[in-house]
Amino acid sequence: MKKISIQMLAAAMALMLTACGFGEKPEQETSRQDSIPETTEDSSGTAERAEQEADDNVRPEFTLDANPEEYDVIFVGYPIWHYQMPMVMQTFFDTYDFSGKTIIPFNTHLGSRDSETYEDIAELEPDATVLEGLAVNGEQVQGAETEMEDWLTNLGY
Ligand SMILES: Cc1cc2nc3c(=O)[nH]c(=O)nc-3n(C[C@H](O)[C@H](O)[C@H](O)COP(=O)(O)O)c2cc1C
Repeated sequence: MKKISIQMLAAAMALMLTACGFGEKPEQETSRQDSIPETTEDSSGTAERAEQEADDNVRPEFTLDANPEEYDVIFVGYPIWHYQMPMVMQTFFDTYDFSGKTIIPFNTHLGSRDSETYEDIAELEPDATVLEGLAVNGEQVQGAETEMEDWLTNLGY
């Protein structure tokens, strides 16, 4: 059984987001400023662009060297943006058919935990098995090693 490692997927997701021009923290001034956790200053307009993409329901393009469909188990990692996956992840699930495959989601956030995105993935890939995900606070990633190991152990890895 072929598996993509967490590191590979995290790197791939980071590459995807970088390719789409993201990678910065959001500005504090957004229309959801009252409820989106505070983050550091952003001078690139990432927050506005992300929100606009979500509002317009766009599908940002991405390139990926590996073909995830060749794998039986796919770890999929992403940050929570505006209470959902970044729109490029919608493109990702539009692009690939994971029917019969196992998807293991994990995400970072600043308070929204998984924001029900694991259910979103199950809806986007109705014929895949979506296992229990792991939501890690983006400011506590360094201390999340044990939590991550326990999660993987519970999943049988
Ligand atoms: C555009 C944007 C929107 C965000 N919206 C949320 C949100 O709704 N809920 C939340 O908990 N965190 C939100 N965050 C915080 C990110 O989830 C957090 O910064 C990220 O998961 C941590 O990973 P990073 O260090 O790679 O940014 C948002 C961040 C950005 C850039």
